[in-house]
Amino acid sequence: MAKIVAGVGTSHVPAIGAASDHAKDRNEYFKPLFDGYDPAREWISKVNPDVVILVYNDHACAFSVEVVNTFVLGVAEKYEPADEGYGPRPVPHIEGHADFASHINECLIFDEFDIAIANEMAVDHGGTVPLTVMYDRPESWPCKVIPLCVNVIKYPQPTGLRCYKLGKALRKAVESYPEDLRVAVFGTGGMSHQLQGERAGFVNQEFDLMFLDNLQDNPEALTKIDHNEYLRDAGSEGIELIMWLIMRGAMENPKEVYRHYHVPVSNTAGGLICFEDEAA
Ligand code: DHB
Ligand code: FE
Repeated sequence: MAKIVAGVGTSHVPAIGAASDHAKDRNEYFKPLFDGYDPAREWISKVNPDVVILVYNDHACAFSVEVVNTFVLGVAEKYEPADEGYGPRPVPHIEGHADFASHINECLIFDEFDIAIANEMAVDHGGTVPLTVMYDRPESWPCKVIPLCVNVIKYPQPTGLRCYKLGKALRKAVESYPEDLRVAVFGTGGMSHQLQGERAGFVNQEFDLMFLDNLQDNPEALTKIDHNEYLRDAGSEGIELIMWLIMRGAMENPKEVYRHYHVPVSNTAGGLICFEDEAA
């Protein structure tokens, strides 16, 4: 049977992708960030998941704002990096796992999560940057990837609790798939940040560290953070953190094996946390 062996929470700042793509990842500005990725990359190469379920958000690239879907699961065989206005990132295309994704989709819908289905979808920095964070610059990504897209950019976003519950349903779906697959779930998105208005550039390290400190043992407390609290304490884009709660919901007995936190990266913090699932 398929099983979840690991979970990762990580920021997806576009500048991280650009630094990697232009070989600037060890310059003076980015070195402290990327040096902190080395141990995580070593760890994931040992964990070596067959499939990554990549929980991320689209930034109005694959989907226009005319139709806003709360959750979208990719069931395609292949995904190209999105053109975000300056050409697609020069990273490998993503290989999907259509059969496994279709199984997950069916399970989630029968478990009363009304997920939209993407047969075709370009993946923007929200999805490609976390792959860079964990896998650097390979010729091809070393695993199959199932993208699970969450609306965090248009109000009303789902609650943290809904995301956490979706993670639990995701675990059930994975564990009922008959193939022996080692699965990692990546929950991605910025920690505290605000890209607009008077508080543009706002970062709240105290909030970020509180979130990291509670993720393993006290996720229920994090599910109680409401939209206003995210806005006030984590900035207008800090609500991206609800995607980390899907990852956490999919873990049964997580053990933190690595953490990295660095400020600033562009307008936010670079946050990374890695869990192994002791239940696996
Ligand atoms: C930045 C961060 C994001 O999460 C994003 O989607 C876009 C930009 C930033 O800090 O520059
Ligand atoms: Fe973002």
